[in-house]
Amino acid sequence: MRPLTSPALLLAAAAALYSSTTLAAFPDCINGPLSENSICDSSLPPAERVAGLLSVLNITEKIANVNNAAPGSERLGLPPYEWWNEALHGVANSPGVHFAEPGEEFDSATSFPQPILIGAAFDDDLVYEIAKTVSTEARAFSNAGRAGLDFWTPDINPFKDPRWGRGQETPGEDPLHLQRYVAKLLAGLEGSHDDDDDAPYKRLVASCKHYTAYDFEALGNTTRHNFDALVPAADMTEYYMPPFKTCARDSAVGSFMCSYNSVNGMPACANSYLLQDILRDHWGWNAADQWITGDCGAVGDIWEHHGYAGDGIEAAALALKAGTDLDCGTTYLQFLPGALEAGLVEESDFDRALARLYTSLIRLGYFDDPAQQPYRQLGWADVNTDAAQELAYEAAAAGIVLIKNDNGILPLNPQTSGHIALIGPYANATTQLQGNYFGAAPYLHSPLHGAERAGFTVTYAPGTEVDTDDTSGFAAALAAAEAADIIVFAGGIDNTIEAEERDRTAIGWPGNQLELIAQLKMTTGKPVVVVVFGGGQVDSSVLLHGQDEGGGGGVDALLWAGYPGQAGGRAVFDIISGARAPAGRLPVTQYPAEYVEAVEMTYMPLAPVTDEGEEGSSKSPGRTYKWYTGEPVVEFGHGLHYTSFELAWAQDEEDEKMPTTFDTAELIAGAPDAAKPDLAPLHTFRVTVRNTGDVTSDYAVLAFVSALDSPLAQNPHKSLVAYARVRGVEGGGGGSAEADLEVNLAGLARAESGSGNLVLYPGKYVLRVDVPVQLEWQFEIVGEAVVLEEWPVAPVEEEGGRLNE
Ligand SMILES: *[C@@H]1O[C@H](CO)[C@@H](O)[C@H](O)[C@H]1NC(C)=O
Ligand SMILES: *[C@@H]1O[C@H](CO)[C@@H](O)[C@H](O)[C@H]1NC(C)=O
Ligand SMILES: *[C@@H]1O[C@H](CO)[C@@H](O)[C@H](O)[C@H]1NC(C)=O
Repeated sequence: MRPLTSPALLLAAAAALYSSTTLAAFPDCINGPLSENSICDSSLPPAERVAGLLSVLNITEKIANVNNAAPGSERLGLPPYEWWNEALHGVANSPGVHFAEPGEEFDSATSFPQPILIGAAFDDDLVYEIAKTVSTEARAFSNAGRAGLDFWTPDINPFKDPRWGRGQETPGEDPLHLQRYVAKLLAGLEGSHDDDDDAPYKRLVASCKHYTAYDFEALGNTTRHNFDALVPAADMTEYYMPPFKTCARDSAVGSFMCSYNSVNGMPACANSYLLQDILRDHWGWNAADQWITGDCGAVGDIWEHHGYAGDGIEAAALALKAGTDLDCGTTYLQFLPGALEAGLVEESDFDRALARLYTSLIRLGYFDDPAQQPYRQLGWADVNTDAAQELAYEAAAAGIVLIKNDNGILPLNPQTSGHIALIGPYANATTQLQGNYFGAAPYLHSPLHGAERAGFTVTYAPGTEVDTDDTSGFAAALAAAEAADIIVFAGGIDNTIEAEERDRTAIGWPGNQLELIAQLKMTTGKPVVVVVFGGGQVDSSVLLHGQDEGGGGGVDALLWAGYPGQAGGRAVFDIISGARAPAGRLPVTQYPAEYVEAVEMTYMPLAPVTDEGEEGSSKSPGRTYKWYTGEPVVEFGHGLHYTSFELAWAQDEEDEKMPTTFDTAELIAGAPDAAKPDLAPLHTFRVTVRNTGDVTSDYAVLAFVSALDSPLAQNPHKSLVAYARVRGVEGGGGGSAEADLEVNLAGLARAESGSGNLVLYPGKYVLRVDVPVQLEWQFEIVGEAVVLEEWPVAPVEEEGGRLNE
């Protein structure tokens, strides 16, 4: 969605303004005109119910209701419904969500960390708990007329390039991680079949976005609105698509959002190959209640920015025909009447879209008796509960990554460490802690608040801002530092540096923050702890290793805290004080600053290219920990602890339970669902995690596989195949816990170049556990190579024009 600059958004903003005084209503199925219609008869199957509604809506009303701000029909007693609701990390500001005035009921909702920090916890149970809480609060808002029932979250595009302004909205750069994360997230948001507490109703409808190959905002004249992502099939199936496959095929999410960009020449929202052939036919995402919305303004982009259609009429028709059921914007409203008149669309195209949309509302209980629905009983008392507040804190604490801790300077005991100087642009940050797509929080606890709460004696001096050359605050910061025993610098980047429609062009520290840190370190000679905030990483080489000119060995400790949400300050200082032990792992690679010169942001392939190769390719050192050939500043999966851990295979290595050979045919036969051979288990490797130090701590176990003799020309260094987090492993007495690393065939599969088919190749592999490696296990896969997923062939583009239908 775009900031409030486009006509579409101004319209939406106006709608939001209007409806902030007009709360949403549920249909009156008892006394209203609809009570006579089958849509209100909960004893009928959904298809019959929705057919009843379609039979009474006239064509004017049908056209009006394939828009995000659906007016319903006053004549029929069908209330207006705003489809555009947001809840990325808590119920969030958006046209469908209306927070009340401060001090009133529904003035706030729990604000969790941004997904990039939740991802760093590598804790899928935590993801589920967060999503379930968000969904409960969203339902409470909906019951009060303050939100809809569908929410346009999650953003599950892999964070491919560190410059991307919206990487903060994702759990990180690894596709398998995103798949496992999103499966748990959707189970929490929408409810699942294992979850019987409110069958047959869905908790919410979530929307997996942005489909697909979207991870770029703007660079010069190329923007997400005109960008054509050129993605080879193998990168598509190995990297860009897996999270969406999980959403569609495995989690049966209620909704998808097609993205602004084109993919291989065709705008995503007009792309019947992506929307029909892949999504609905290949992945079987074709239930009666599953619908696709365009990103806001994306249907207009088809002609206005991609030049893919001659005019708005053609663009609207292409999108509706391709399967974009809902337009967020004005293109459908403006141009579908003309498209209908020109015979480019038929009434049945509206019926198909509206049936999907209204069937989803049926599944949500929209037309049913509230007394029969537990979710409809949720209210203000279910928002901002103590448990939710504690979960927001737990989530922030769980994700924070300890990157450096020289001589075990952390934790700092508030009683004995003396006086802290708290400096930097995040030292007293509040709304900055939320990143983007946020709502009003019940409170926003800054680092300063957290430090005082943890019992430290603190002097606060901001010193500088995120991105400025102004050094006028330096003197006060230096004076505060001189008077203190320890310096804590809280800085990094915020949404003035990385945001929607704002990619970075540089990935070093902005402004004069590093200069201030260097002065603090050199002039005082005191220990310096740096806490870096932000979703994208900033090259912190100098803080880790120091500078040639007298920077010494860098700072003493470095923590990454992402965007930690409402309890961020408390979480950061509980880690600094040792009230909590850090166990997060970096969910992305921290690249050196030069990375941005080494590869164009718009270059989509993952593998390194060393020559000016074939047409369309450019030089690249490779992307993500899997392919990057340079030396990362901090590698994916890095994260230190306050204690030491030793890992061992829980099975004796001599034990035959620790297999060394697998046969492809037997593996495939073991798939729980024959249609999903990629989900067949390889093996669950069980690891004993022993805490050999003094501090009780969580531990996230990450397991990677590397192929030792792959038949493919290019292979990643390694790929994440499983992870598990064990909680609260006791220190002081050698406490231990067991972690199950469930490896399935998808983790080992590679895409064939050209076809993009995912193939399990026989050969020798090695499983390596942890970063740096603590355990290794070699195994061999024997038998024939097997195709785990046969990728539908993309249609061929006609010379200079649209695809042949
Ligand atoms: C459909 O109904 C609306 C009232 O909801 C009316 O304004 C409109 O003229 C009708 N359109 C047709 C084609 O009958
Ligand atoms: C970008 O667009 C502007 C305005 O259309 C034009 O003047 C400029 O030359 C373009 N820049 C590039 C690099 O294409
Ligand atoms: C910290 O920020 C809060 C909230 O913006 C503000 O009320 C408070 O005065 C600030 N504290 C200091 C010491 O500046």
